[in-house]
Amino acid sequence: MSPKVIAIDGPAASGKSSTAAAVATRLAWAHLDSGALYRAVTLAALDNVGDARGRGGGGGTASERQPPRGVQERRERGEQGGQGEHGDQGQSGERHPWGPQQIVAIAESLPVRLVLVGAAFRPEVAGVDVGEAIRSERVTRRVSEIAALREVRHWVNVQQREAVLRHAGGVVVDGRDIGTVVFPDAPLKVFLTASPEERARRRLAQRGQAIDPTELKREAAALAARDQADSTRAVAPLRAAADAVRLDTTVLSLAEQVNRVVALARERHLG
Ligand code: CDP
Repeated sequence: MSPKVIAIDGPAASGKSSTAAAVATRLAWAHLDSGALYRAVTLAALDNVGDARGRGGGGGTASERQPPRGVQERRERGEQGGQGEHGDQGQSGERHPWGPQQIVAIAESLPVRLVLVGAAFRPEVAGVDVGEAIRSERVTRRVSEIAALREVRHWVNVQQREAVLRHAGGVVVDGRDIGTVVFPDAPLKVFLTASPEERARRRLAQRGQAIDPTELKREAAALAARDQADSTRAVAPLRAAADAVRLDTTVLSLAEQVNRVVALARERHLG
C-alpha cells in the first residue's frame, strides 16, 4: 500500500515549506519539513562535535563524551543553542571534516527528533524546540555538507518514515529527495521551481531584509552554491522524480501554488 504522503521537492527557497504547510492545513494533514531535520542535525553537530567547530575537541563517540557539550547548559537554560556566526570555524577560518558516525551518534544521544505539535512535525534537540535556531546563517552554511553524508541521510530517512508510519493521517513532506528516495511510492509528487532571482527575492523578504541589488546578488549566489552542492552529491541528489508534476512558481502567488497542489491532491482523491 502506498503511504499517505504528498511529496514536495525542489531547490532552495522555491517555496516548498510554505506550500507544504498550507496544503497540509487545507487537507487537514500533517506537515513534515525534512530540511528542518537536516538543519537540526547540523545545529547539533556544530554545538557538539568538537572537530566541526575547529577547536580540536571532538573525536570519540557520543558515549565517550557524555553528556555532549552544550546540552546540559541548554537544558538548564531551556534554550536552543548557539547563534554565533563563526562557531564552525577555527580561528584561522579553516573548516574541519565531519565524522559521519560521530554525527549520527550525537543525533541519537541528544536526541535530535521530530515531534508532532498540532499539525506540524517540529525539530527538537535535547528536548528543546529548535525551529528558530536552525535558520541561523551558521547552520545554513554547513547543512548541505552534512546532508551529503550517506550515514546521516540514512538516519534522517528512518526518522521521517517512522514519523509518517506513527501518524494516523496523511502527511505532506517537503525536501529534496522525498519523491525519489524517501517515499518513492507517494501517490502525489510535486517538484517546485522558480527563477534564481525570484527565489533570492523571496528568501530576503522572508527574513525581512532589504531587497536591494547587492543583497539580491549575494543571496542568489548563496542559493546557487547550495543547489549545486545538493544536485551534484553522490547520495540522493536533488532532482525531480520521473512521475513528479513540475510546477514553476516564478509568477505564482503562494495562494495560487497552494491551490494548484490541492487541486492535484483532490484529483487523486487525497485529503
Ligand atoms: O528552506 P531551504 O530551501 O533553504 O532549505 P531546507 O529545506 O531547510 O534544507 C536545507 C538543506 O538540507 C538543503 O540545502 C539540503 O542540503 C538538505 N536537504 C536534503 O538534502 N534533503 C532533503 N530532503 C531536505 C533537505
